[in-house]
Amino acid sequence: MDSIVVRGNGPLKGQIPIAGAKNACLTLMPATLLSEEPLTLTNAPRLSDIKTMSELLASLGAEVSSLQEGKVLAMSSHDLDNHVADYDIVRKMRASNLVLGPMLARLGQAVVSLPGGCAIGARPMDLHIHGLEALGAQIELKDGYLHAKAPGGLKGAQMKLAFASVGATENILMAATLAKGTTVIENAAREPEIVDLATCLRAMGAQIEGDGTPRIEVQGVDRLHGATHPVVADRIELGTYMLAPAICGGEVECLGGRIELVAAFCEKLDAAGISVEETDTGLKVARRNGRVRAVDVTTEPFPGFPTDLQAQMMALLCTAEGTSVLEEKIFENRFMHAPELGRMGASIEVHGGTATVHGVEKLKGAPVMATDLRASVSLILAGLAAEGETVVNRVYHLDRGYERLEEKLGNVGAQIERVRSS
Ligand code: UD1
Repeated sequence: MDSIVVRGNGPLKGQIPIAGAKNACLTLMPATLLSEEPLTLTNAPRLSDIKTMSELLASLGAEVSSLQEGKVLAMSSHDLDNHVADYDIVRKMRASNLVLGPMLARLGQAVVSLPGGCAIGARPMDLHIHGLEALGAQIELKDGYLHAKAPGGLKGAQMKLAFASVGATENILMAATLAKGTTVIENAAREPEIVDLATCLRAMGAQIEGDGTPRIEVQGVDRLHGATHPVVADRIELGTYMLAPAICGGEVECLGGRIELVAAFCEKLDAAGISVEETDTGLKVARRNGRVRAVDVTTEPFPGFPTDLQAQMMALLCTAEGTSVLEEKIFENRFMHAPELGRMGASIEVHGGTATVHGVEKLKGAPVMATDLRASVSLILAGLAAEGETVVNRVYHLDRGYERLEEKLGNVGAQIERVRSS
């Protein structure tokens, strides 16, 4: 398995282009299943998770072509000939469960293996199931697969999610576009990826209002047509690269970044003493003087501080002046990076969903192990600021979520290289 070697070497300077959002693309791709006509996505990120979703869609009978070196995905679901999403593909990535709603709406049936993905907690699917059942689906769990059918078609319904789950909102929203009548989803997730999905579905002819608020209303239509849609910028990749100059010093402009994608995160950067400036082309981040200050962080659904930036923020706070408290409210097992950061000299105590970080002056390079996608990149960020060499092992998770990471960081002056396993 590949590893990444990082050497701490001081301030960074330059520009980093931000790719299209992995999490948006992974929900936009299954939307192709809703229509017989082609759906084309531009600004797609080049990631292994996107390949996994392409494989899954192809296994259902969709055609997926990757054009312009993967930046454009041309998809057609004219002839779907399979309604079973197999364990062998689904286990690689939890987002595979997003084919459930569209398949059910288009074909009236779907069999989907329970998913895998990052090992960051239980991540059940009860909210997806209850929502689709409210639309009239009958769903049973047999042999690790969800067997769903809607013999008389789906019917619009009013529902309130017990938690504003991103995936459940996406699955229900896609299914509701082809249901008969009106669907209202209350306590819906408000993430920018939901707004991006709704924008794409509207371009395909869906009637949706209220995306980006806790109440989404959908008027079902008989069919959706083709469309071309640009994928929104990746706010998690953006936040990750904003942390690079925050940790190492220097000044980096993240091209394509927008404040409204990362507003809660920017507030915390400001409190830590990092400056963020909006430019015509993106967000410019700088740390000019001394150590950063400790700040407390609680993860929340959007517009709160994103759980997907908690590990990277922790890497910054390891060398802050003072003590920071990080509370993880979305996933119950998301501090696996803490002991690895400890190997680099960080002082972190974890009790349940709370991590207390006592800032130290300097981290020291060490061999560390990547445990999940965002944990992996937090170790790379920490390595950029540590004395000596850090070797991050088991980096396959990184390739799921960060395209050309070594190149993007190398271009702003980081010393980082991939060591390929033989
Ligand atoms: C999505 C993102 C992921 C991000 C997460 C929270 C994608 C592909 N992944 O994941 O990167 O970390 O949002 O912002 O978009 N839950 C239930 N029952 C359910 C569904 C969820 O209890 O049916 C719980 C989960 O266990 C978790 C919480 O709700 O504790 C949040 O999950 P959810 O918002 O659904 O996250 P995902 O859509 O899986």
